[in-house]
Amino acid sequence: MLVVELFAFLHDSRRLNEFIDPEHGSRAASYAKELNGTYFHLTDEQLEKLCHAMSFHSDGGIHADATIQTCWDADRLDLGRVGIKPRAEFLSKEGAKYIEAAYKWSLQSDPNSDEDFGI
Ligand SMILES: [Fe+2]
Repeated sequence: MLVVELFAFLHDSRRLNEFIDPEHGSRAASYAKELNGTYFHLTDEQLEKLCHAMSFHSDGGIHADATIQTCWDADRLDLGRVGIKPRAEFLSKEGAKYIEAAYKWSLQSDPNSDEDFGI
């Protein structure tokens, strides 16, 4: 859970722009290495997973490791924020079950709404 949480906070933290920036994930991984030991304390295995997830999160791949894939599913299921509907081929089988609900949720103006999206 900590790896997924840190991914959520950090994976786009080193973007230079909101458009094309293919190295932003690798820069975020380097930043996480700098922060580890001071602001959070990951094991070597956790840090390796976090850095891998960040470095390759925008490449569209699927990963066998559940932690890494959870990071990628979470990011991709929220693509409605930039007007893109998530596609099953870029998600785990579990993540693909939530495409419709996540897309509806990401399009709403008040994400704290009590509306039921079937999640
Ligand atoms: Fe990104």
